[in-house]
Amino acid sequence: MMNLLEIKDLHTYFEGNGAIVKAVDGADLSIREREVVGLVGESGSGKTTIANSLLRILPETGRIVSGGIIFKGINIRELSEKEMQFKIRGNEISMIFQDPMVSLNPLFTVGEQITSVLKLHQDIGQKEAKTKAIDLFRKVRISDPEKRFDNYPHELSGGMIQRVTIAMAMSCEPSLIIADEPTTALDVTIANQILNEFEELIGEIGVSVLWITHDLGVIKRICDYVNVMYAGTLMEQGTVKTVFENPLHSYTFGLLRSNVIYYEPKGKIPTIMGELSEIPHQGCKFYPRCPIGDEGCLQESIELRKIDENHSIRCIKPEDAKRLSRSKNHGFQGVC
Ligand SMILES: Nc1ncnc2c1ncn2[C@@H]1O[C@H](COP(=O)(O)OP(=O)(O)OP(=O)(O)O)[C@@H](O)[C@H]1O
Ligand code: SF4
Ligand SMILES: [Mg+2]
Repeated sequence: MMNLLEIKDLHTYFEGNGAIVKAVDGADLSIREREVVGLVGESGSGKTTIANSLLRILPETGRIVSGGIIFKGINIRELSEKEMQFKIRGNEISMIFQDPMVSLNPLFTVGEQITSVLKLHQDIGQKEAKTKAIDLFRKVRISDPEKRFDNYPHELSGGMIQRVTIAMAMSCEPSLIIADEPTTALDVTIANQILNEFEELIGEIGVSVLWITHDLGVIKRICDYVNVMYAGTLMEQGTVKTVFENPLHSYTFGLLRSNVIYYEPKGKIPTIMGELSEIPHQGCKFYPRCPIGDEGCLQESIELRKIDENHSIRCIKPEDAKRLSRSKNHGFQGVC
C-alpha cells in the first residue's frame, strides 16, 4: 500500500508572552491508503496540533517551525493559502471535530449547509445536491432524513448533529478524514452506535482515517495502526495487534494498564504518576515518569527506531519494558 500522508520530523510551536510551547516536537507519522490510523495520548500531548498543522489551521500564535507534511507526494507546507482552501481542506482532507458546531453554522439549515458543500465540490445543481445530501444522511443513519434536511443545527440532538458533520465530511469524497475525538462528548450508547456506523461507512467508501482519541478502547475497535504520542513526539507506533499485545514502551504499557478494559483492578487502578509538564531538556521526555528509566536515558537524544516492519519505539530499554509488562510489580503506582 502506498503512503497517502507522511509527516516527517514535524515541529509546531506556540509563542506568546515570551514563552514557547513546543506542542509538536519532532513527530513522524504516516497513513497509507484505506488505512484507519489511531493517534492516542493524554491531554496536551499535541494530537490536535498535529491535525491543525496538517490542515494549516493553526491559531495565530502557532507556527510550523520545521518538518515535512507530504500528502499524495505534495508538500503541504509549500502550498499557497488559496491552494489549501480549494484543493486540500474539505476536498482532499476533511475534519470532524469534538464540537460539531465548529463545522456548522447555526444560522443555516443542515440541508443548506451540506448542499452548498456538495455543489461547490461536485459541480452539481440544487436538485441533485439535495438528493445526494438526503442519501448521505440516510447512510449515516439519520432518521427521517427528508425532514431533518430542513432543521437548523440547534433543533437536532448531540448524536444527530455529529452524524450531520460526518455526512458533511464525507460529502466531498475526501481521501483522508481526520476525526478529532468526535465521540468523546456524546453519551456512551450514542457514541457506540456512531462508531459502529462510521466503521461500516469507511469500509464502504474506502477512505483513510486519522482517528484522534485518548481512548484505547476506540483505537482497538476501529484502527489498523496506532501511534502513541507523548509530549509532542511519537513514542511507539505499530499495528494495533502488535502494540496492544506486545507494548515495548513503558508509556504505552502504562496507558494500557490504566485502562480498565485491559486490566481488572483489584481495588486499585494503576496510573502513570506525575504530569506531562515535567519534561527534561535532554534525553527521554518520559524519564520523570518512567518506572524503568536510569541516568543513561538522559544522556542522548533518543530516536524513534524500527523494531520490525510494523513496530517502532523511542526507548533505549525495550527489553526492560517487555519484562515490566510481564511483571506483577510493574512500577506504576496505584490510586484508590
Ligand atoms: N492556542 C494555543 N496557544 C498556546 N498553547 C497551545 C495552544 N493550543 C495548544 N497549546 C498547547 O500545545 C500543547 C498541545 O496541545 P494539543 O491541544 O495539541 O493537545 P491534545 O493532545 O490535542 O490534547 P487534548 O487531548 O486535551 O485535546 C499543550 O501544551 C497546549 O497547552
Ligand atoms: S528511554 Fe528510558 S526513560 Fe525513556 S521510556 Fe525508555 S526506559 Fe523509560
Ligand atoms: Mg485535542
